[in-house]
Amino acid sequence: MPPSAVQAPIPVERIVDRDEQREIFEEAVAGAGEKRLIFVRADDGYGKTCLLRVLKEYCKDKALPCCYIEFKRTDSYDVPHLTLAREICEQLGIEPKHLCDKIRPLSASGGGGRASTEIAGDVTDSTVITQVLVNVSLTDESLQKGPVKQRLKRAFLQDLSTTQGPLICLFDALECISGEEETWLLETLLQPVLTGELEHVIVVTGGTRLPNIHVWEWQGDAHLIKDLPPLTEEHIQELGRRLGRELSQEEAHNIWQYSQEGIPLLVGIVTMSLLARGGASR
Ligand SMILES: Nc1ncnc2c1ncn2[C@@H]1O[C@H](COP(=O)(O)OP(=O)(O)OP(=O)(O)O)[C@@H](O)[C@H]1O
Ligand SMILES: [Mg+2]
Repeated sequence: MPPSAVQAPIPVERIVDRDEQREIFEEAVAGAGEKRLIFVRADDGYGKTCLLRVLKEYCKDKALPCCYIEFKRTDSYDVPHLTLAREICEQLGIEPKHLCDKIRPLSASGGGGRASTEIAGDVTDSTVITQVLVNVSLTDESLQKGPVKQRLKRAFLQDLSTTQGPLICLFDALECISGEEETWLLETLLQPVLTGELEHVIVVTGGTRLPNIHVWEWQGDAHLIKDLPPLTEEHIQELGRRLGRELSQEEAHNIWQYSQEGIPLLVGIVTMSLLARGGASR
């Protein structure tokens, strides 16, 4: 199956179905359910990214802080306890003051030997925070030391704890995550959410695999969605309407058949190409 990444992303308002998964998410955000971890596994092209985009849009509509991290890319978040933590804080609109405080001694020697005096100032000042975090050299060996990683992990948790309302973290393409990133994710976000240390954080992962967890250990506390269903003929008709075309049952059935019984990626391709040709019947 061709990678969906080569296609232009479908506008979010054209994404159909996924009500069930959306409901689970909304419940978690509202604090109605016990579970605040949602792990979605589905094969290529079954709409994991689309689902996460729908959730992201929901957060935007409700003005909820939300971060979206996609691991499918050439560069990885080396030194995740700094880089990933920094990125998440930035997207959530949280000033990483504690992280900055812990990184400051390293920042003094990093970034091409800039002296700490050059970035003197109060760590509560956003400009100083940015300067300190940007000035750290990612190749600094101390960043690889266990105690430093632990300190940065604690600092990140403290930064997240400075807000009370729900914080939503969406992680996509989990199958592309590096070992180092995944260890960080497990230790610094998933486990603290699981144990209640981060009780206002909701995490959703999407990927062709679940996070590297013992399913039996987590299934009581996390929603494990092991498949996204294919799209039905009704969904295809709905997609047609959203594209401005009323599809007959027969047309929807044909698209469903051509798309290997509703594989979302293929539904998108077949529907668009048939509509572009001015019809959907055989
Ligand atoms: N719910 C949906 N409604 C309409 N179209 C969808 C839906 N889900 C997926 N699609 C179509 O399938 C394409 C691929 O979806 P998406 O990129 O979300 O799949 P994926 O599971 O993330 O794939 P990959 O494993 O390659 O990352 C989308 O560009 C869109 O055309
Ligand atoms: Mg995807």
